Amino acid sequence: MNDSFVLVTGSTSGIGLEISKYFASKGYNLILTARRETILKDLKKKISLTYDISVDYISADLSSEDSPKNIYRFCKSKGYNIEILVNNAGYAIPDPFHITSMDEEEKFLRVLSTSVIVLTKLFLNGMIKNKKGKIMIISSVAAFAPPSTIQFLYGPVKTFMNRFSEGINSSYNQIGITSTAVCPGYTITNFHSSSGIQDEMDRVPKFLKKNSKRIAKIAVEDTLKGKKVSIPTMTYKIIVFLLKVIPKSIFFAVNKYFSPGRYDNKI
Ligand SMILES: NC(=O)c1ccc[n+]([C@@H]2O[C@H](COP(=O)([O-])OP(=O)(O)OC[C@H]3O[C@@H](n4cnc5c(N)ncnc54)[C@H](OP(=O)(O)O)[C@@H]3O)[C@@H](O)[C@H]2O)c1
Repeated sequence: MNDSFVLVTGSTSGIGLEISKYFASKGYNLILTARRETILKDLKKKISLTYDISVDYISADLSSEDSPKNIYRFCKSKGYNIEILVNNAGYAIPDPFHITSMDEEEKFLRVLSTSVIVLTKLFLNGMIKNKKGKIMIISSVAAFAPPSTIQFLYGPVKTFMNRFSEGINSSYNQIGITSTAVCPGYTITNFHSSSGIQDEMDRVPKFLKKNSKRIAKIAVEDTLKGKKVSIPTMTYKIIVFLLKVIPKSIFFAVNKYFSPGRYDNKI
């Protein structure tokens, strides 16, 4: 048996599920992780049968401090060599910053950043030993935009993750390890309903809403090529370029039309 695996966090739905299936279609073995065990169990069966690869899973809540270590120990105990680590799990908190509890914010930060750092740290040594490894971080176009009033810490955390990915590249590229920060725009998944912002998504024009299968394919191909930053689709490549060059006042005015409510004063 090939003992090399791709570990995908947040693999029970949306972009993570499509990334898992796309890797499987290319013959990669998978370790799936997320909180919903029944879905993971079902996916293990379906994906391994469809693609004739090895699939295993571990249920873990990444808002808990111990989860990254538990995932690492699980892989070690089974002799799974993680060649590609996909840090994808995520959600957003819809409420304005002044009314959220610190506990909510800390859990959010753990899922979207601390767990990413801990998992990368834990699996990096194996990659260094093998002189090869790939890390994918599902960031967002929000990393390039001004922080919004809904999902207050979401954009800042994604910017931090892009910088973290950049740091991995500058420190470890020379020994064969690459990190790819994938920055999708609006993608049709459970993200908006599970983050309490489905209304916002419903108001976004159709041309800005992308298919998760398409995003996953680009994310995987760019990661395998060792691209440092991947911005799926031409629409969002143009938007990220504009975000870097246009004045913020123009951005806010345009945004009122394309993504209403995102920058409204909530008090
Ligand atoms: N959809 C978009 O428009 C969009 C745009 C840019 C970036 N992104 C990013 O894409 C990534 C994937 O989101 P998605 O759009 O695919 O959303 P999704 O369909 O809601 O999937 C989120 C995944 O994360 C897992 N997850 C959530 N909280 C978790 C926790 N505490 N511990 C472990 N796993 C957890 C969920 O599984 P369980 O519920 O089973 O735990 C699920 O598998 C996120 O990082 C998000 O920020 C999304």
